[in-house]
Amino acid sequence: MSKKTPPVIELRGLTKRYGMGDAQHNALDEVDLTIEKGEFITIMGPSGCGKTTLLNILGLLDRSDDGEYLLDGKSVETLSNARHARIRSQQIGIVFQSFNLINRLTVIENVALPLTYKGMFRTKRLIMASDILKSFHLSEREYYMPWQLSGGQMQRVAIARALVNNPSIILADEPTGNLDSKSSHIVMEELSDLHKRGNTIVLVTHNPNLTTYASRVIHMLDGKIASDTKHPVAVESETVKKPLNKTTKVTTKKSTKPRKRKQAKK
Ligand SMILES: Nc1ncnc2c1ncn2[C@@H]1O[C@H](COP(=O)(O)OP(=O)(O)OP(=O)(O)O)[C@@H](O)[C@H]1O
Ligand SMILES: [Mg+2]
Repeated sequence: MSKKTPPVIELRGLTKRYGMGDAQHNALDEVDLTIEKGEFITIMGPSGCGKTTLLNILGLLDRSDDGEYLLDGKSVETLSNARHARIRSQQIGIVFQSFNLINRLTVIENVALPLTYKGMFRTKRLIMASDILKSFHLSEREYYMPWQLSGGQMQRVAIARALVNNPSIILADEPTGNLDSKSSHIVMEELSDLHKRGNTIVLVTHNPNLTTYASRVIHMLDGKIASDTKHPVAVESETVKKPLNKTTKVTTKKSTKPRKRKQAKK
């Protein structure tokens, strides 16, 4: 990979503390992480290890207490909240662990919301929202209110909203956590497609089957990166055969070519 362009994301000694005095602990403990443009990373690790905390900082929704965060080679630490919001609306799509849909807006209005910040006309916004809802098989629910949807449908709406802006960085916190196998595939194929088009994806998941879509798998433990492994992305026919729901046992045939795994450079 060319070294001319800086990494899309670079963290150096990133630390986030919660609590005071004896109760203080590091939710993130001196995390060093370099993400190049076009990587598809899955982050795994036990509950409480700091995955959401990390994603919130990457998405400029929260700030670290120590260390440095460089986005496209530029430090974001000293930028104002307003500037963070602008960068987010131009560059970053976030799928939250809790969907964060706005209850007084319809499904289509929720999805069109990020486009408001781009100064786009309402009709154009709704057309774009409608298009992306179609790809998530939600056309019939466009004018429902969020509370009229099932959990899985809400999650797909939240994902559509994160993607409508065509962000170059997509941060997703357990986007398939509540979905059945079929819906999980729709979401993962959409993310995989975005990855193929050169976007950078960071996906938090508890489901090891989803790592087949990723080019790099990071395991976290106690606020630190415990392992960081790169591997080639599985071809589509291989991934679609895999069941995605956590309870299902994986019984895929072994590929004729052994998958090379090598330790990522620190
Ligand atoms: N606002 C907060 N105030 C205090 N402690 C917090 C806060 N947010 C997170 N923490 C703590 O930071 C640690 C990391 O939390 P985080 O939400 O990042 O975990 P996670 O890896 O996403 O877990 P899960 O898999 O359950 O979503 C936890 O111990 C949590 O209790
Ligand atoms: Mg979390």
